[in-house]
Formats: sequence, C-alpha cells, structure tokens
Amino acid sequence: MKVNQTILITGGAGFVGSSVARVLLNRGDRILIVDNFNNYYDPRIKRDRIKNLEKDFNNFYIFETDITNYEEMDKIFKTEKIDKILHLAAQAGVRYSLTNPFAYQHSNYLGTLNMLELCRHHDIKDFVFASSSSVYGANKKMPFSEDDKVDAPMSLYAATKKGNEEKAFVYHNLFGLRCTGLRFFTVYGPWGRPDMALFLFTDAIARDKPINVFNYGNMARDFTYVSDIVDGVVSAINRSEEHSYEIFNLAGGRSVKLLDYIAEIEKNLGKRAKKNMMPMQPGDVPVSSADISKAEKMLGYKPQVTVEEGIKRFVEWYQDYYKI
Ligand SMILES: NC(=O)c1ccc[n+]([C@@H]2O[C@H](COP(=O)([O-])OP(=O)(O)OC[C@H]3O[C@@H](n4cnc5c(N)ncnc54)[C@H](O)[C@@H]3O)[C@@H](O)[C@H]2O)c1
Repeated sequence: MKVNQTILITGGAGFVGSSVARVLLNRGDRILIVDNFNNYYDPRIKRDRIKNLEKDFNNFYIFETDITNYEEMDKIFKTEKIDKILHLAAQAGVRYSLTNPFAYQHSNYLGTLNMLELCRHHDIKDFVFASSSSVYGANKKMPFSEDDKVDAPMSLYAATKKGNEEKAFVYHNLFGLRCTGLRFFTVYGPWGRPDMALFLFTDAIARDKPINVFNYGNMARDFTYVSDIVDGVVSAINRSEEHSYEIFNLAGGRSVKLLDYIAEIEKNLGKRAKKNMMPMQPGDVPVSSADISKAEKMLGYKPQVTVEEGIKRFVEWYQDYYKI
C-alpha cells in the first residue's frame, strides 16, 4: 500500500466524506475535496465539517464545484496529480426522490458518468464509490448478500445507485478501471445528516415535538456507526489495487428494531418521545440486514461500535453542536 497519496473525494463536505477525509489526512495523505455545498440539508453543517478539518490539518484543498460540470472538473484533473478517487457525492435520501427525481438523474447518473469519464481520460486506475443497501429493494431473503439479485429497486434513489454499479462495471470492463463499490447500510453518528431518522428523532424529542414512526414501528435497520464505515472505506482504498471490480456490503452486522433505537435515544436525552404512528412510506423498505462476511474476508472489515454506544456518542455531539 502506497501512503502519502493524493486522493480526490467527491462529496467531501458530506457526512461520510468529511469523516473519511479526517482519517486519511491524519495518516499523511493529501486530500482534494470536491463538493457543491448544495442545500438539500442545511449547508452550515457542511461548512462546519470543513472548518473542523481546517482546525487540525492543512494538507487538503476544497473545490466548490458541481461534479456534473465536466469542464470545471477536467481543469482539476489536468492540474492535480491524483492517485485515487473516492466518489461519494450524490443526491442521497429515499423519500426526497419521490418529489425531486431530476436531482437524482443529475448528481447520481450524470455526476457518476462524469467521474468515470474523467478517470478514463486522465489515466486514473482506482475508483472507490458509494453504493447503498437500498439496491436490495424489498428482497425477502435475509441477510442481504452481494450475490443476491438486485433488480427490483423500490425508489429512484435505489435505481440510480444500482445503475452506478453497472456503469462502473462497464468502465472496468472496457477501460480497466479498478472499481470497488460499497453498499452502505444506514450510517449514523456525530456530524450525521439532518435528513436522517436518528437526527430527526433526536431533534424532535429534544424540542418536545412529535416524531413520525412509519409502518407503525414495524421496521428494522442494520445501522452502521460512522467510524466503522470509515474503516471499511479506508480499507477499500488501501486494497483497491487487489480488486478489479468488487461490491461489498458495509454494515453494523446486526439488525435493530426501530422502536428499540428510539428507546435508546429517549434514554440518552432523558425524555420520552411523542410518537405519531404512521403507515409505511412509499419507497421505503421494512427491514435491512446485511451479510458482511465478504467485507470481513476481503477488506478485514470488523464493525466495532454497538448501537447503544453509537447513539450515546451521537446525542452528545448533537447537544454540543446545537447547544440544547
Ligand atoms: N449516510 C447513509 O446512511 C448512506 C447510506 C447508503 C449510501 N450512502 C451514500 O454514501 C454517500 C455519502 O453519503 P452521506 O451520508 O455522506 O451524504 P451527504 O449528503 O452528507 O454527502 C454528500 C455530499 O455530496 C455533495 N454533493 C451532492 N451532489 C453533488 C454534486 N452534483 N456535485 C458536487 N457535490 C455534490 C453534497 O453537498 C454533500 O456534501 C452518498 O453517495 C450516499 O448516497 C449513504
């Protein structure tokens, strides 16, 4: 494994991207962050994630650019000597894709195609990218394994993630790009996304507002603490030369019931939630549960942080950041 590499991270001001950047900077890599700081959720938290990196490191550069702007991206690739790409920029969120489908077409499809074309034309050989557990759709066989069929997505978000795995395969097949696709399972933790359940629940309970509990609480998720995801991503970057085209599940390895998750938030906030029990949301899946044995074997992946510990750390961060 080469150290002190230059790694370009798309979506580097995002939740996962900024967390990975910290670990790579800490070990001495040079990091180029590309992010358009869009307002899908409050961009203040994106700016603060970057400020937080600036306090500790100076070996990174921010390009405030949209990955769909090929000319601007091409300039970066022409002037910088890039060793590897970590492609995380995307329009995330399942529910938002029901009302804003073109945002997914734009950032996920066109954005990813641009990144693959840039690798091709600038002779970059290693492409590690974020996929999602949502590609498993409503598959009934549990736990979800990388060998399962994933041809029945439940949302446009999921469809773009599956489509990106296929696009990457084409670039591997035609142009020899080494691709590692990582199917993240519900990532949570400090600096987490304000549109995700843990944040929404914590914020509402802390402010004595009701929370919407979908499918009447009959949901379960394989939640993954952010430092575990970061370990998996860093290992995928380290081992990218060993993998010609591989897809890995990265998950906590244990499915947790939504109501237990909420109870843990209540415990840490010292407050009871006011629950609005609601029917299933279109596009959502009731259960996610991952088989992580492939990542354990080929990436040395081993999730460390329990949901109890992870929620405790999130709530501490939330109270400190929002002064609640
Ligand atoms: N967090 C999760 O639970 C989860 C689960 C499955 C998959 N993923 C995937 O992991 C990746 C990272 O997720 P995250 O939780 O850090 O999300 P995030 O929204 O916090 O980060 C994505 C970043 O990409 C940037 N971005 C979006 N479109 C862009 C564009 N066109 N050009 C430049 N920048 C753009 C955003 O400003 C944001 O900072 C995404 O690809 C997401 O789909 C996340």
